[in-house]
Amino acid sequence: MHNSPLMTVEQHILEEQRRRFPRASGEFSWLLSGITYATKIIASQVRRAGLVNILGSAGQTNVQGETQQKLDVIANQTLLQCLGNRGNVAIMASEENEEPVMVPRDFEGGKHVVIFDPLDGSSNIDVNVSVGTIFSILGREPGQRDPMIDVLQSGYRQQAAGYVVYGSSTMLVYTTGNGVHGFTLDPSIGAYLLSHENIQMPPRGNTYSVNEANTDSFPHGYRRFLAHLRSGNAGRAYSSRYIGSLVADFHRTLLKGGIFLYPPTKQYAGGKLRLMYEANPIAFLAEQAGGVATDGTRRVLEIPPTSLHQRTPLIAGSREDVELLMKMVAE
Ligand code: AHG
Ligand code: MN
Ligand code: MN
Repeated sequence: MHNSPLMTVEQHILEEQRRRFPRASGEFSWLLSGITYATKIIASQVRRAGLVNILGSAGQTNVQGETQQKLDVIANQTLLQCLGNRGNVAIMASEENEEPVMVPRDFEGGKHVVIFDPLDGSSNIDVNVSVGTIFSILGREPGQRDPMIDVLQSGYRQQAAGYVVYGSSTMLVYTTGNGVHGFTLDPSIGAYLLSHENIQMPPRGNTYSVNEANTDSFPHGYRRFLAHLRSGNAGRAYSSRYIGSLVADFHRTLLKGGIFLYPPTKQYAGGKLRLMYEANPIAFLAEQAGGVATDGTRRVLEIPPTSLHQRTPLIAGSREDVELLMKMVAE
C-alpha cells in the first residue's frame, strides 16, 4: 500500500507520524491537513485569476512597502482561517501581517506556530507564471508568554516545512525531517497524490538561477563565481534559468540540481528574501534532499532570528555547486 500511486498526502503524513512517533495523537497530521486544505482553495483561486475580477493590485501596500496583490490577500485570509480552526495552532505569522496573529482560543494550550508566505512570486500572477505558498511549522510549550519568543526560533528547530507550487500542475512538497516528498494535485478528485517520493537533489547541476540584472552590485566573490560558471572552465556548460518566484526557481533546483542565489545587492545589502518564511523552510527542504543552504558564510538554519520580517541572502542548491560558491565568497 505504501508505494501505491494513489497515496494521498494526508495518508502519507499520518503514516509517517505513526511510524516515527507511535504515541503521537494525530494532531500534527490534523494541522498539516489544514495547510493542504488551504492550498487547494488558493490553487482554485489562482487557476481562476484570469477569469474573475481578482487580478491586479488591491491598492494597499504590505509591511515591506510592496504593492499587495489581491490574491496575496485572499491567500493570506485562507491560510489564517483554515489554520486558525485547527485547535492546536497558537500563533500564525505571515508575510502579509506586520505582527504575529494569536489564535485566542488556542493561545494557552496550542503547541504549534505556523509561519507562511501565502503567495510567493505574486508579481508573476498578472503574467500567468508560476507562484507558490511557503510554510514553516515550529513547536512551542503551551502557556501564555510573548508570542515573539515562540516565533523567533532558529530554522533548525522547524518541525516541518514545505511549499506548494501553482505551476502547470499544483504540487505540494514537504519535509518533517525525514526526507522530502512531493505530491501532485489531481484536480478531478481534489487530492494531492504521492508523485515524488524521497526527492534527492543531484550533487551537482548545470543551471544557475539568479537575477542577473543585479550582477554589478553583487559582492566580488559572487561575481567571480558566476563568471567561472560562464567561462567554460567549470568542467561543464551551465545554463541560466530565473523565474522570479522563489518557489518555482527552488522547485526546479530541487528536482534538477544546480544553484539558486539571491546575494546581497546595493538595494538590499542584507539580502532581499525573508528568513522566517522564505529562507528557513527552503533551507530545511534543501538539506533534507541532500543539498546545502547558506547566506554565503553561515548555514541558513543557524541564523539567529531577530525579527519576523528580517531579510537574508539565500543561496540554495546542489552540494558541490553551493560549496564552490562559499569557497569563492570566502576568498
Ligand atoms: P513575494 O512575491 O512573496 O514578495 O516574493 C518575491 C520574491 C521571490 O519569490 C523571488 O525569488 C524574488 O522576490 C525575486 O526578486 P527580484 O524580482 O528582485 O529578482
Ligand atoms: Mn515570497
Ligand atoms: Mn508573498
